[in-house]
Amino acid sequence: MNANSSVKRYDFFPTPVYAFQMSDEHRKQWLESTYALAKAHPKSPAVPLFRGHKVQADLFTIPEFATFKSAVQDKAQTIAQDLKVDLNRMDLTLDHAWANINGKGDFNEYHSHPNCDFSGVYYLKSMPSLGSIRFRDPREPVALRTLLLKERNLFTQDVAFPPVQGMMYIFPAWLMHQVDPNPVDFDRISLSFNISFKIKQELQGTIQKDF
Ligand SMILES: [Fe+2]
Repeated sequence: MNANSSVKRYDFFPTPVYAFQMSDEHRKQWLESTYALAKAHPKSPAVPLFRGHKVQADLFTIPEFATFKSAVQDKAQTIAQDLKVDLNRMDLTLDHAWANINGKGDFNEYHSHPNCDFSGVYYLKSMPSLGSIRFRDPREPVALRTLLLKERNLFTQDVAFPPVQGMMYIFPAWLMHQVDPNPVDFDRISLSFNISFKIKQELQGTIQKDF
């Protein structure tokens, strides 16, 4: 909107998706550790709405992923700062991290992540053509009408990000997302995680929202 305009637009209900280009420094070591972990945690039986090898171990507790944990911590701090989360009154918690090994045809249907504030995915081994992560507009009434847009903006209803190796996306945990099928016989490997902001113990029961 023009700075001199007499109209001001308030974007009160936008949904942030953060994209971080990660350093390649530890990627090879994380990849080797992920393959080793996958051997120790074989594929679970098939479940509806999901296909792939979800490695059921908490990466945040495994020494080989300590540098990954601190990278997530760093990005979470950036987000807290950007969103003005009051870290004098809230503690950042890194809840859980896991690995996904997706071969040809593997996918994840629309879902969200309960009991946390933000979720993220880091593409440890991938190529842009291996099937995107796709976010759906959480404002359900928006889907009742279609605006034909000239470019992607606040009224775009479906946004896809390609799985670019080395990228990390962090988004609100309640935001519905799916992972498109991997079309080729080449592993798409990602590390996923959940993080939370919790009211400090000593303040619980006393806090009022200011904003
Ligand atoms: Fe997810």
